[in-house]
Amino acid sequence: MTTNPYDDIAEWYDDRVRSAWGHPGDESDLLAMLTGLTGDVDGLDICDLGCGQGIVSRRFARMGARVVGVDISSRLLAIAAREESANPLGVEYVNDDAQSLSRLSGGSFDGVVCTWSMADIEDLDSCYRSVERILRPGGWFVFLITHPCFQGPGSRWVGAERVVVDYFAEGFWRSENPDGVRGKVGAHHRTLSTYLNGLVEAGLSLERLVEPCGIAPINASLPDTSKVPVFLAVRSRKT
Ligand SMILES: C[S@@+](CC[C@H](N)C(=O)[O-])C[C@H]1O[C@@H](n2cnc3c(N)ncnc32)[C@H](O)[C@@H]1O
Repeated sequence: MTTNPYDDIAEWYDDRVRSAWGHPGDESDLLAMLTGLTGDVDGLDICDLGCGQGIVSRRFARMGARVVGVDISSRLLAIAAREESANPLGVEYVNDDAQSLSRLSGGSFDGVVCTWSMADIEDLDSCYRSVERILRPGGWFVFLITHPCFQGPGSRWVGAERVVVDYFAEGFWRSENPDGVRGKVGAHHRTLSTYLNGLVEAGLSLERLVEPCGIAPINASLPDTSKVPVFLAVRSRKT
């Protein structure tokens, strides 16, 4: 079984998700924005890519979707499975690599959702091709990332201002904040054009972008997210 750095921080990450996004059933702005992009998922087959401890998988399952959560961290998957045992929603969890999705059949999902995990995946093009393969024709791919124009190597808040240092420096970097996810596990930075052109090259047409303004509650500790977008959400579709 493949491991990744999240195995070392699984309990910490689980605590962080639960405190930031609230208890199951909580209506956070971010999840509402996500479902605004996916639309009604009742009765759909959904893959939650890089599902972590399963917060989004559970959310979609409660909305009537048949959900398969995929992740490469066996410890986060164990937390997700424990939650599924305690409160069954019918979510299936699979240990697989988003760059290949070799355990998932082609054309088997109406939608793929991915929250915060794209920056953890080294080979973006392989990931996009795998997503395209498992989608049915007309299926959507929605992902949510920290905004690549404002979050990258050296970027930081200075008072209420966001400073961007090295936007074009694509590759692995680690935030200087030891208490944040990106300080602990690092991230693969890409430009906005790399993210969007890669989708199109994989056969996924771009449909909608959302840059939330002043979103709560996850940003409560940040200076002013009504001036600079911290997140970017993207909807694309298999043509
Ligand atoms: C920031 S967490 C996001 C987890 C979850 N989606 C959430 O919203 O809380 C990133 C996740 O991506 C997973 N991951 C990293 N690389 C992966 C890969 N190549 N294939 C599948 N999952 C991967 C990590 O194990 C981790 O659970």
